[in-house]
Amino acid sequence: MKGRLYMKIGLINGSPKQRNSVSETIISQLKGRIEKGNQLIELHFRTNRLSDQSIGQLASCDCLVFAFPLYVDGIPSHLLACLRQLEDYFSKEAKKELRVYCLVNCGFYEGEQTAIAQDIMKNWCKRATLSWGQGIGIGSGGMVQSVANAGDDFRLKRNFARALDMVSKNILSLSEAENVYINFNFPRLLYKLCGEMGWRKQIKNEGLKVKDLNRQIDLGDSKG
Ligand SMILES: Cc1cc2nc3c(=O)[nH]c(=O)nc-3n(C[C@H](O)[C@H](O)[C@H](O)COP(=O)(O)O)c2cc1C
Repeated sequence: MKGRLYMKIGLINGSPKQRNSVSETIISQLKGRIEKGNQLIELHFRTNRLSDQSIGQLASCDCLVFAFPLYVDGIPSHLLACLRQLEDYFSKEAKKELRVYCLVNCGFYEGEQTAIAQDIMKNWCKRATLSWGQGIGIGSGGMVQSVANAGDDFRLKRNFARALDMVSKNILSLSEAENVYINFNFPRLLYKLCGEMGWRKQIKNEGLKVKDLNRQIDLGDSKG
């Protein structure tokens, strides 16, 4: 399918974080590649209900690009609720073809971890009578923000930048393509060590102790 001269592209941040999410950074890195005179409609899904206005905005687009985090090998629950609402709308409304692209980032090292979430999105497209475009799985999500300001040829950023180039080209031509899963050019062990250091720092900032990282919530404990 050929792309149009000017397109309306819906960019959906599906992270529940209000700010500084990896998904937000991914969208901002993508924007520079797909703006080119196109109209970008940016929405942040943070609750489990979409307004009629948001649905109308999305329905007027030529394609939708979702960027969201992997949660328990799947889709964050608030986003799932919004997808159900959109499915209901799109499957009943007669509309033009709308292609869907997904950029899913995760905490684990390998981008392949997001494969199940990409399948869920692909199945959702079928039920919502939308067309699947492509999925990009980004492993080591925490690295995205560290390399955001680096040049695209910076060794650590290269795989991420190439994946964005690829999906941008497909978005601009409204094409379908195979999913792509990427890792950063960073040793796996070092990534794990840095992650563990980050968690220790975060838990201390919250006023808790490092051993609390292993604490299990005993639901039977809660009284009243
Ligand atoms: C509730 C929850 C579940 C998660 N489940 C997974 C998971 O199954 N696999 C994984 O690799 N990362 C998992 N993560 C990590 C997030 O995908 C990761 O931190 C991501 O970079 C957050 O993206 P965001 O900043 O755009 O929200 C989980 C995080 C949370 C809070």
